[in-house]
Amino acid sequence: MPEERVPADYTEMDLLEAKRFDKKVKENFMPAIVSTVKQIIEDYGVLEGVCVDVGCGTAVFAIELCKHSKLKIFALEKEKAIYEVARMNIEEEGLADRIIPILGDAHKMPFENEFADFIISRGSYHCWKDKVQVFKEIYRVLKRGGTALVGGGFGRYVTDEEYKRMKSLRARSLGDAAKAYSSPDKLREVINKAGISNFRISYDRAGLWAEIKK
Ligand SMILES: C[S@@+](CC[C@H](N)C(=O)[O-])C[C@H]1O[C@@H](n2cnc3c(N)ncnc32)[C@H](O)[C@@H]1O
Repeated sequence: MPEERVPADYTEMDLLEAKRFDKKVKENFMPAIVSTVKQIIEDYGVLEGVCVDVGCGTAVFAIELCKHSKLKIFALEKEKAIYEVARMNIEEEGLADRIIPILGDAHKMPFENEFADFIISRGSYHCWKDKVQVFKEIYRVLKRGGTALVGGGFGRYVTDEEYKRMKSLRARSLGDAAKAYSSPDKLREVINKAGISNFRISYDRAGLWAEIKK
């Protein structure tokens, strides 16, 4: 079982920036987080077992998923200051026994083979330098019989107004990187290159998602 790792070397400026990022997510993207978690529970039932959230940010999504499931969630984040804000958010919610923040890189995850029943990664895919390598890692860490859901989007329960508002905010904040979530062919190619065959891609109003089964 991975231990929680406490980062030491981030600056006050990094922490301020991470808090600003957290505030933006909470103010602007909560409808997408609530909607996507609702969709996951509708599609997969009330999940239990071990979950890894790859690129968890400040754990806002992990917290919402935790509240609607029985999962124990290992929330993986590579930026130390963001990890620290995730840790604070988890503690504030009183969920430290169910969500374990982990400082680490998705390209070399600090988890043993077949560690997780469920892997979620929302809105992190566009950041990965070597997407093929991250998918290999996801598949390695996923248990036989498990499901991984990787992609980005707002879920199917946002209103038209919320959808339009968040889409324009996302385009502004991600710039060119937002294109990653409108390229299903590229996503398919990356997963194929990772040697994974049992997957399907959905690309609709809910976003661009790859569901991987092992
Ligand atoms: C836009 S945020 C999404 C946060 C959260 N998943 C959500 O849905 O709100 C993407 C996060 O992925 C993290 N990230 C990017 N590349 C990563 C990597 N290689 N390993 C771990 N985390 C990574 C970033 O630092 C950032 O916090």
